[in-house]
Amino acid sequence: TLLRGRTLSFLRWPDSVDDHAAYRYEEDGGLLLRDGTIVAAGPYAEVAVQAGAGVQVIDHRPHLLLPGFIDAHVHVPQMHIIASYGAELLDWLNTYTFPEESHFRDAQHGRRIARLFLDEMVRQGTTTVAAYCSVHRQSAEAFFAEAHDRNMLTIAGKVMMDRNAPEGVLDTPQSSYDDTKALIAEWHGRGRQHYAVTPRFAITSSPEQMEMAGALMREHPDLHMQTHLSENHAEIAFTQQLYPWSKDYTDVYEHYGLLGKRSLFGHCIHLSEREADAMSETGSVAVFCPTSNLFLGSGLFDYQRFRQREKPIRIAAATDVGGGTSYSMLRTMDEGYKVIALNGEKLTPFASFWQMTLGNAQALSLDDKVGTLDAGTDADIVVLDSRATPGMRLRMERVETLAEELFLLQTMGDDRAIREVYVAGRPAKSTMELAAA
Ligand code: GUN
Ligand code: FE
Repeated sequence: TLLRGRTLSFLRWPDSVDDHAAYRYEEDGGLLLRDGTIVAAGPYAEVAVQAGAGVQVIDHRPHLLLPGFIDAHVHVPQMHIIASYGAELLDWLNTYTFPEESHFRDAQHGRRIARLFLDEMVRQGTTTVAAYCSVHRQSAEAFFAEAHDRNMLTIAGKVMMDRNAPEGVLDTPQSSYDDTKALIAEWHGRGRQHYAVTPRFAITSSPEQMEMAGALMREHPDLHMQTHLSENHAEIAFTQQLYPWSKDYTDVYEHYGLLGKRSLFGHCIHLSEREADAMSETGSVAVFCPTSNLFLGSGLFDYQRFRQREKPIRIAAATDVGGGTSYSMLRTMDEGYKVIALNGEKLTPFASFWQMTLGNAQALSLDDKVGTLDAGTDADIVVLDSRATPGMRLRMERVETLAEELFLLQTMGDDRAIREVYVAGRPAKSTMELAAA
């Protein structure tokens, strides 16, 4: 298949809207896809010659073709509790989240929600996720099976949690170790599936279970690790009480050997300088979840401080559904822009779209596969329509630059702006809607 459209992909962080060397843009671009891979990219006329006669051409002009969006932190079993009213983090977990996640004991339920979850991701232009499943091994089985069937690249894990939650969502140090081992053996490296060791957070894991999480990472150093860190003041105080010997929250994870280049820490709102240094020195990733942090009243992530400090911290961005309030990475970075504005800084539209694509791919150490349109990488592609609604169409009459257009897409765009999504070279959004009709 040969896709034609306005292709845009990033090579590195864009320092400003004038940093044209940070991205590659073709007004009339071509992407040649074969067996799930981009085999050629460039000006359409050149790629068409390479493609030869008889190739199927799909003309997406005047739409933009970008690498599929990446969501670096999201909870699959929280679809039923998104938009739950009135609570801060710990109450929200106890009142809504833990009871809902207990339903995932039922494997059928897990499979149904995995299907709906991945459908929703595709509808929103997201082609790769780092996902939390429930505590139940079968919920992760269901998720991986569904992602594998669709050939979607995912990172996922069953949460490990053995205390401070209801019986129906608890495991034990040993069962969490055994279930994680079994899931790694069955799913890690199978097709496009990657396993992440997933201790939910320090509050819901005993020291024994944290030891087990550390052991799993030592035994499988190529795995990702994902958890939550420094989201809310009450959470931080409770953690200090549970781990009285710790210097701070980050030190708890440090102590058990959980910091590192493949370690993803959701939130990181209230980090001290010591904690920020520890994150930086270990190459750990802080995950920015703006809609969640606003919705739960957790605080403002200090994106520019983390980037600009002497020891910078690697950053990813994510929806954090169901603490987050939108499945869309466009809606997420719109709120992210506003959070950064409240901190007195601005994020350029190029930087936003870098973050959703190459930036997140780099943070997840997946940039050799996704987040770019380079030849040789996976054909996960999103097609964006900057005139998707009457308001956007009208606004486009005054838009003169690519940066302005991207900013409009981020500020007003949602699933309606996602015209098509290719997952491993196959159209996944239009075909899904046909199937549903
Ligand atoms: N901390 C521990 N678990 C969760 C969760 O599910 N969502 C959020 N936002 N924070 C958490
Ligand atoms: Fe989360």
